[in-house]
Amino acid sequence: MIRVGLVGVGGISGAHIPAWDGMEDVELAALCDIRKECLEKYPDRHLYTDFEEMLDRERLDILDICLPTYLHADFAVRAMERGIHVVTEKPVSLHAGDVERVYSCAHRNHVNFMVAQVLRFWPEYELIRELYDSGKYGKLLSGTMSRLGNIPGWSWDNWMRDEARSGLVPYDLHIHDLDFMVYAFGEPRKAVTHRSRRPDQDYLHAVYEYDGFFISAEASWYAAPYPFTAGFVFQFERAVAAWQKGKLTIYEKDGNVLDLSSPSDKDTGSIQLPKSNAYANELRYFADCVKAGRFPEKVKAEELACVIRILNGEPA
Ligand SMILES: NC(=O)c1ccc[n+]([C@@H]2O[C@H](COP(=O)([O-])OP(=O)(O)OC[C@H]3O[C@@H](n4cnc5c(N)ncnc54)[C@H](O)[C@@H]3O)[C@@H](O)[C@H]2O)c1
Repeated sequence: MIRVGLVGVGGISGAHIPAWDGMEDVELAALCDIRKECLEKYPDRHLYTDFEEMLDRERLDILDICLPTYLHADFAVRAMERGIHVVTEKPVSLHAGDVERVYSCAHRNHVNFMVAQVLRFWPEYELIRELYDSGKYGKLLSGTMSRLGNIPGWSWDNWMRDEARSGLVPYDLHIHDLDFMVYAFGEPRKAVTHRSRRPDQDYLHAVYEYDGFFISAEASWYAAPYPFTAGFVFQFERAVAAWQKGKLTIYEKDGNVLDLSSPSDKDTGSIQLPKSNAYANELRYFADCVKAGRFPEKVKAEELACVIRILNGEPA
């Protein structure tokens, strides 16, 4: 059994806890949050309001960090110094220098470290990467990616609306799409960003240029109850792939339309999309790496540092 402890039992832990609980070879043994009320619905676990006490008392193989962004790197280092493998929610930090700090700590202590950049484990996004690599539909010509919603009002201590602690829309939302671009297509040669920002709203539009194609991406915290939506449209020479309202469709140049969200409806030929939960996928991948004694290479330090540098407008 792999013993897991999780710190930060707020919003996103609601996706991580069931994912760990769904694994037969994992026991999510301990939870930690400074707010007692967040722990009350898990009476069957070992519960802590003090992080160091959890580390002192539990024999953990893996620590899962679901804390506010500004705490990720420090808490990761504190656990790795004790020989515990660490998977943390995104982003690792708002500062590129922290990437080297956490990875060198992991290597020095011979433990695994991974930032859970969930789109790398999301079947619809993985398919775009595969189509790009294989050239199945010819070259990629353009892409649009979006991640829109209203300004968060639920976070503990309102930390999300504090730029120093969350990095606002660039680090909360847009980082998902930029991280995917860097993972799938490499570092863009140019980025042009526009931002409309007020105390109660934040909107970002960016265009990333690559050799032969460009990707535009938008992300928002609107000051209105706009429902959260995420999607993309990628234009290849011989097809358009669109993920909209949770449905992935490929429109082929010869007129075929492949509905990959309900593959039983139609023969989709060589394209198969596994039905899976990306949060469970990322944590399963990390647990498998720990079991195999293999460092998780799917999320690379240099890619994380590249994304932070771009978001901060820093030179490569
Ligand atoms: N991958 C995704 O799709 C996704 C989605 C949402 C959030 N996130 C990331 O997850 C992280 C958490 O976001 P959230 O929405 O769950 O925030 P949240 O505010 O809902 O939860 C954070 C929790 O941490 C607790 N906490 C704060 N300081 C602590 C400490 N010192 N010790 C123990 N507990 C402490 C708070 O009480 C709170 O319960 C953020 O970094 C965010 O970027 C990722």
